[in-house]
Amino acid sequence: MKCSAVFLAALARAAVVLGDSEIPGPGADGRYTISAPGIKAQFIPYGASLTNLFVSDKNGKDIDVVLGYDDTTYYPKDPGHPVYNSIPGRYVNRIGHAQYTLDGKTYKTEDNDGGNTLHSGTNNWSFRFWNVTALAADSITFAISDASNSSLNMLGRVDASVTYSLTNSTWNIKMTATAPDNRTPLMLTQHTYFNLDAYKNPATPLIWDHTLSLPYSKRYLEADQGALPTGKILTAAPGSLNDFASASNLKFGHARNLTGFAGNCGANGACEGYNGYWLVEDAPKDAAVVTLASAFSGVKAQLRTTQPGVVLYSCSWMDGSAPIKSDQGLSAAQKVVKSSCVAIEAQDYPDGINHPEWNRTSYQITGPGQTYNWESSWTFGLV
Ligand SMILES: *[C@@H]1O[C@H](CO)[C@@H](O)[C@H](O)[C@H]1NC(C)=O
Ligand SMILES: *[C@@H]1O[C@H](CO)[C@@H](O)[C@H](O)[C@H]1NC(C)=O
Ligand SMILES: *[C@@H]1O[C@H](CO)[C@@H](O)[C@H](O)[C@H]1NC(C)=O
Ligand SMILES: *[C@@H]1O[C@H](CO)[C@@H](O)[C@H](O)[C@H]1NC(C)=O
Ligand SMILES: *[C@@H]1O[C@H](CO)[C@@H](O)[C@H](O)[C@H]1NC(C)=O
Ligand SMILES: *[C@@H]1O[C@H](CO)[C@@H](O)[C@H](O)[C@H]1NC(C)=O
Repeated sequence: MKCSAVFLAALARAAVVLGDSEIPGPGADGRYTISAPGIKAQFIPYGASLTNLFVSDKNGKDIDVVLGYDDTTYYPKDPGHPVYNSIPGRYVNRIGHAQYTLDGKTYKTEDNDGGNTLHSGTNNWSFRFWNVTALAADSITFAISDASNSSLNMLGRVDASVTYSLTNSTWNIKMTATAPDNRTPLMLTQHTYFNLDAYKNPATPLIWDHTLSLPYSKRYLEADQGALPTGKILTAAPGSLNDFASASNLKFGHARNLTGFAGNCGANGACEGYNGYWLVEDAPKDAAVVTLASAFSGVKAQLRTTQPGVVLYSCSWMDGSAPIKSDQGLSAAQKVVKSSCVAIEAQDYPDGINHPEWNRTSYQITGPGQTYNWESSWTFGLV
């Protein structure tokens, strides 16, 4: 929409702070669109989700490298609800055995994931409509206020916001949160799924031919069959199933033919590939800690983050029922098949509230007078 682009550019120049009621609504397609040289991103209030991310491929064509739906009204209805490119909260990932202990008291949380708690429970933030509180040509801010106990025993109100901004082929993500009333578990992530071929590679829709490099991640958390960390921290031998550190040109699927790959992410053999946590250790300040790339499209994506590790999930539970977007793929009939994408989620150690031996508790509990901060960026370029 031409007029809204002009209006947004004017807003950015004026750098005015608007009241809620003055912020323009989304475009006719239901999305808020922001852009900067080399990059364009679109968002919806549901889950504060990214719906589309356009970057340039090796032929100079803009391609959409993240998963999502054409119809923005489908996100809340989607029975599969893969937490598409949204912000889960207030405590992401699993809480082991659906309980945690804080200041000497044990709290039961909702058992919504085979005996554990996933993404906090009923009022998880990826299922909520966030408020848009600021908008400019190259940035957007969403905010959420989460009432005490809105998910079982997540006590005390939490006020959080995420600002997405674009600069020169880079997507910046910055979150802050406060818990003014109570000490509470608080741990956030941005849960984006990538396929850097935009499903246009005629050779394969699968993610395994992408390369993946985590140069500061020799160690990872051992997990049980329910993807819950056992407490053990393991080191991946070069060339082994969970090695992405030993070389910069390892294929994501380099271990595809090794014994154990089919059940490497648990579910008694049913989860193929990856759904685990890699520690980022001894990375120089501002170093890229993850590089995902595809020779087919020529697109390279690099993550920088304040977080001490990342979850890698290789889409084993995508069952082929979800459609791809019309700007992706080779035909309209194409679906999101198993192992055709990867979610890369910078976050603190999963279930760290139940593992004091990891020394992460002070980062995962926030209370009055404190501010939780989370920052990451994805920079796109060519291989
Ligand atoms: C998240 O919240 C929604 C809405 O309350 C609920 O339907 C869904 O089951 C919750 N998800 C999980 C993983 O608990
Ligand atoms: C959005 O703002 C309104 C008005 O301040 C508030 O009532 C509502 O709870 C907010 N929504 C969220 C998700 O925080
Ligand atoms: C939290 O909500 C549950 C119902 O989901 C209720 O049983 C419990 O008493 C509440 N706890 C507090 C501290 O309000
Ligand atoms: C934009 O990014 C490209 C590629 O990383 C770099 O060569 C260029 O200097 C950057 N331009 C600005 C204005 O930062
Ligand atoms: C795995 O085996 C298939 C044939 O079964 C082969 O095409 C593929 O290149 C092998 N992949 C790796 C990473 O060794
Ligand atoms: C936690 O701190 C203790 C004491 O400093 C140290 O021995 C241990 O290695 C730390 N654990 C981790 C996972 O860093």
